[in-house]
This record gives sequence, structure tokens and C-alpha cells, in this order.
Amino acid sequence: MRKRVAILISGRGSNMAALLAATRDPAYPAEIVLVLSNRADAGGLAVAGAAGVPTAVVEHRRFGADRAAHEAAIDAALHDAGVELVCLAGYMRLLTPFLVQRWAGRMLNIHPSLLPAFPGTNTHGRALAAGVKLHGCTVHLVTEAVDDGPILAQAAVPVLAGDDEAALADRILVQEHLIYPLALHNLATGTAGAAAAPTASLLNPLPGHGDVP
Ligand code: GRF
Repeated sequence: MRKRVAILISGRGSNMAALLAATRDPAYPAEIVLVLSNRADAGGLAVAGAAGVPTAVVEHRRFGADRAAHEAAIDAALHDAGVELVCLAGYMRLLTPFLVQRWAGRMLNIHPSLLPAFPGTNTHGRALAAGVKLHGCTVHLVTEAVDDGPILAQAAVPVLAGDDEAALADRILVQEHLIYPLALHNLATGTAGAAAAPTASLLNPLPGHGDVP
């Protein structure tokens, strides 16, 4: 049986699209049964709708400061759809312990840095300011601390001379779209631990230096 997955988004949803593409392979061990957003104007909703995936909007603004009520509404939508795993993909709300605990071990997030470096926002700007030579992305299980939790997959890319935030973000996004489907695959098949297929990669090597195995 394929695992029933929901994706939570707030924006354009390119990682969502990568997950949707992966699940089109009938051999992939998960299917996307719901795309849910806290914003009605999230671009990814139209992409999901065009792909025939059910969508839902649970606008946080409707709930004011009542985060618990907002998350209870999300949780209800997830249960109504028979969801087994949740992927956060550019979902721009901090979660309370309520939703984190409900989905402990079953909720993933993708973050645009090599955690534990650069949790939080503006990761690419901070990486450039720090002068790091390697940057990347991480898929991890969601725990109560922000951008923390067991790491399921990572990919590293070099920071090149002349990079600005946009160039770095573009290079990393290519890798995000590879490691998120890989991490979800491993979690869905129960091989996310020691027995997992490789989930670390060093990609986009420096020009002229050949491929890094
Ligand atoms: C990605 O960079 C992801 O790592 C971060 O938010 C961004 C979402 O982009 N959490 P998209 O909506 O998936 O295109």
C-alpha cells in the first residue's frame, strides 16, 4: 500500500511539484492525497489542482492569534483525507507543540541549508555573509525546536565566487527537488534509518574538478 501524504505549502510549491512528479511513478511508495495551504494565494495550489490533487485552504488569518484553533483545523483536514505522512514544503508558519506531537515521526520538512548550520530564515544571505564554501539543503523530521530534528537527507553544493543569494538559491533548489522525494521514499518504506539508501550527496562540484563520487 502506498502511504497517503499531504503537503503543506505557503508559496510557489516547487518542492511540492517535485514530490508530485515522483509519486507519478506507480512504484513510488507514497501518493499525494492533499495539498493544503494557509494562504489562498499560494501559487502551488493551482499547480496541484491542475495535477488533479485535492487542495484545501485553511487561512491562518481567519483564526487571528489563535494558533491552536488554526492547527486543529489543519489536523482535522489531514485526518479527513486519511493522511499518514505530512511534508512541509515552504510552509511559512511556526508550528506549536500540538501539531508537532500529533505528527511526531510522520512529519518532514525541507530547509535550505546544511543543518544544523543556518536554521531560520535568510539562509542564503547568512551563508554568503559567513563565507562558507559549502552550502546546501536538508530534509528532516519535524520536532518542537525550529529546523531541528533527525536528518533524513542532505545535499551540498559549492558556494562559487560571484554568487549572490539568487544564484545560490537556484543551485540549491535543484538539489532540494532531488532529496525530498528520496527522503520521503525512505520514510514511506521504513528505511529512513541505518538501512536507508544513500541520502547524502555532494553535487554540482566545482567547475573543472569532475564529479565527486
Ligand atoms: C524552499 O527553499 C524550502 O527549502 C524552504 O522554502 C522554500 C520553498 O520553495 N523551506 P518552494 O515553495 O518549494 O518552491
